[in-house]
Amino acid sequence: MEKIFILGASALQVPAIKKAKEKGLYVYTLDYDPEAVGIKDADEFLCISTIDKEAVLEAAKKYQPDYIITSTSDMPVRTVAWVNEQLGKKNDISYENSICATDKAAMRRRMKDCGVPIPEFHVISDKKGFEEARKALGRRFVCKPADNAASRGVVLVDMDELQIRFDGNEEEISEELLGIYSYTKEYSRSGEVLLEEFMEGPEVSVESFTVNGDTHIITITDKMVTEVPFFVETGHTEPSRLPVGVQEDIRKVAMAAIKAVGIQNGPSHTEIKVTSTGAKLVEIAARLGGDYITSRLVPLSTGVDLIDCCISSTLGDDVKWQNTKSEGSAIRFLYSAEAEGELTPGSVIKAIEGVDEAEKLPGVSEISIYKSAGDRAVSLRNSGDRWGHVIATGKDADEAAVNAEKAATKIRFILG
Ligand SMILES: Nc1ncnc2c1ncn2[C@@H]1O[C@H](COP(=O)(O)OP(=O)(O)OP(=O)(O)O)[C@@H](O)[C@H]1O
Ligand SMILES: [Mg+2]
Repeated sequence: MEKIFILGASALQVPAIKKAKEKGLYVYTLDYDPEAVGIKDADEFLCISTIDKEAVLEAAKKYQPDYIITSTSDMPVRTVAWVNEQLGKKNDISYENSICATDKAAMRRRMKDCGVPIPEFHVISDKKGFEEARKALGRRFVCKPADNAASRGVVLVDMDELQIRFDGNEEEISEELLGIYSYTKEYSRSGEVLLEEFMEGPEVSVESFTVNGDTHIITITDKMVTEVPFFVETGHTEPSRLPVGVQEDIRKVAMAAIKAVGIQNGPSHTEIKVTSTGAKLVEIAARLGGDYITSRLVPLSTGVDLIDCCISSTLGDDVKWQNTKSEGSAIRFLYSAEAEGELTPGSVIKAIEGVDEAEKLPGVSEISIYKSAGDRAVSLRNSGDRWGHVIATGKDADEAAVNAEKAATKIRFILG
């Protein structure tokens, strides 16, 4: 029986663990968390951090897996690339390229070198650098850690809003700015922070799969993202409803970004903003898209099972990336309607109502509530602050979106 290491045992990796088992592999899952939910689905669990390259290599030498992969999180992508390289195994992306696909500073530099459209950016690591960079940027800019995810530490800075809020008091504005910088830096493992020109316009993600250097775009997903001041994804709808010409531009940028990071085989998830000067790259990941995009929405709208594609590609089998249907699917996340600071401190979720009613509505395919009565109610700062989701389908994207939204409005979180 062939053996596989799957790095990560969180909920995000469960579909890959299950798929590998289904395909007859002996699955080792590796995670630093001995309580990770995916452990029960694997044959064996190794309590090793997915970012500890040396420890994963040591384990690979001991257990001799035929394949080493990860599925849906960023940092293990590097470990997998490095360990495969050390062992002389087939690699979907080189270690050097994997850094460009996981570190936003390295990514921006690589994209710039390859001529991929990106916003103006500055990589800084101290307060002086922050001050210089912010002065070089416009009235609105984004401050984000170089190496985190799930929008942790990503903040939109609006100088005009700060002027109004602090009545033009430069000292207070300066203090607020440095507070934002410190907040973002807390989330940066390397200590590097990016300041970027704010790209205004609709946001999409592009799901694709590369087979021996040939990239196939599976679908483009329209995203709903909060903007003030934290960027949190609150919904996804596919296929994209943007005009055909715009979608062509998006495809071009995604293909260029995938080429620039040198993905040879495997999935990629590319985030793009459509600005008045064309599509520009937010970021690219050499892995499956999270947020239920690849695990739920893509199969519902295109019929493509990207997790199956990943395992097939790893095993050297035929990769079934071709769309087999053309429908709509949408997810809407549930979260606190109260803005930052408006929730009473210490307020808790007293009850959750309307789920049964929502489940019966047309097109609803899944409702998941992450919270229970008694949990603390927090406002939305990053993806982890969301309270649940509704997934729905429809004959097209518009119908799916309406179905998901109708169901979402039925669900009420009673606070106390
Ligand atoms: N320069 C920018 N201009 C406009 N919006 C931006 C910019 N950079 C980031 N954003 C917004 O912030 C969101 C999060 O940024 P980014 O993807 O870089 O961080 P992340 O932590 O990797 O997020 P996630 O893991 O949720 O994709 C983006 O999806 C986008 O909405
Ligand atoms: Mg992102």
